[in-house]
Amino acid sequence: MAGLNKGVPQPTEIGFHHSPFPIHHSFMKTTDFGYQTVPEDEKPRRVAGVFDSVTARYDLMNDLMSLGLHRLWKRFAVAQSFVAPGARVLDVAGGTADLARLFAQRVGPQGEVVLTDINNAMLKLGRDRLLDAGMLIPVVQCDAERLPFGSDRYDCVSIAFGLRNMTHKDAALAEMHRVLRPGGRLLVLEFSKVWQPLKPLYDAYSFGVLPRLGQVVANDAEAYRYLAESIRRHPDQEQLKRLMERAGFERVEYFNLSAGVVALHRGYKF
Ligand SMILES: C[S@@+](CC[C@H](N)C(=O)[O-])C[C@H]1O[C@@H](n2cnc3c(N)ncnc32)[C@H](O)[C@@H]1O
Repeated sequence: MAGLNKGVPQPTEIGFHHSPFPIHHSFMKTTDFGYQTVPEDEKPRRVAGVFDSVTARYDLMNDLMSLGLHRLWKRFAVAQSFVAPGARVLDVAGGTADLARLFAQRVGPQGEVVLTDINNAMLKLGRDRLLDAGMLIPVVQCDAERLPFGSDRYDCVSIAFGLRNMTHKDAALAEMHRVLRPGGRLLVLEFSKVWQPLKPLYDAYSFGVLPRLGQVVANDAEAYRYLAESIRRHPDQEQLKRLMERAGFERVEYFNLSAGVVALHRGYKF
C-alpha cells in the first residue's frame, strides 16, 4: 500500500512548511477583502488593521461621509426593533456604541444592553462614549462568529455595518440566532445595493471622494477604499435575506434606506 501514493503529496505535507510542491496554496481557503482575495485566516488581521487605523476619526468620518445620515439610519433601526423597557439587547460589532446608547435609552434601567466588538481600540472608544453619556453598561470584546453568551437569552440582537467585515457571515448569523430567545429579533443595518439609476453617481462618490476624504481626515485612504470595495462585495438585499433565512431566521424583511445605499434587515427566531 505504501507504494500506491508514491510521489503524490500527502495531506500532512500539503500546506505545511516542508512541502516542496508550489500547488499547496490551492488547498487554502480564501475570502474577499474588498476586491482582493486573501487567505481566510488573514482577513481578521486585515480588518483589525483598518479599524485600528481609523478609530480616532471613525465617528467624524461617519458624519462627514454620510452627511450625518448614519444617525437617522441607526435611529430607524432601533425604532424597528420594537424593544420595550426592560428588554435585553446584544449589540454585535458595536464599535463606538451608537446603537448601544440608543438601545440603553429605550430599554431603561430595568433593561440590559451589552456592547461587543472584536476590536479593542473601537471598544475602548465605545466605552468612553457610554461613560460620557452617563451610561454604565457591560462591554465585551469578542468575535461575532463565536459569541461567549448562553443560548436563548436576548430579546434583540443588532449589528450595524459589521457583518460586511466578517469572514464567515453564515457563522456569525448562526451565532446571533443561537443567543436570541424564541420570539427575539435580529436587526442587520448594512450598506446594500443602491437604486440602479444612482449607481454611476454613487460609484464616483465611493471611489473618487471617499478615499480622498479618508486620506485628509483619517490619514488613511486605503481604509476607505476598502470600505467602498467591501460594500460592492457584500450580499445585496435579497441575498442577505436568504442568508438570514438559511441561518434559521423567519419573517425576514428589509427596508431600503436612502435609495438602497443602506438596508435594514429584520428577522425573527421562533
Ligand atoms: C464599520 S464598524 C461599525 C461600528 C458600529 N456598529 C457603527 O455602526 O458605527 C464595524 C465594526 O465591526 C467590528 N468587527 C469586525 N469583524 C468583527 C468580528 N468578527 N466580530 C466582532 N466585531 C467585528 C470592527 O471591529 C468594527 O468596530
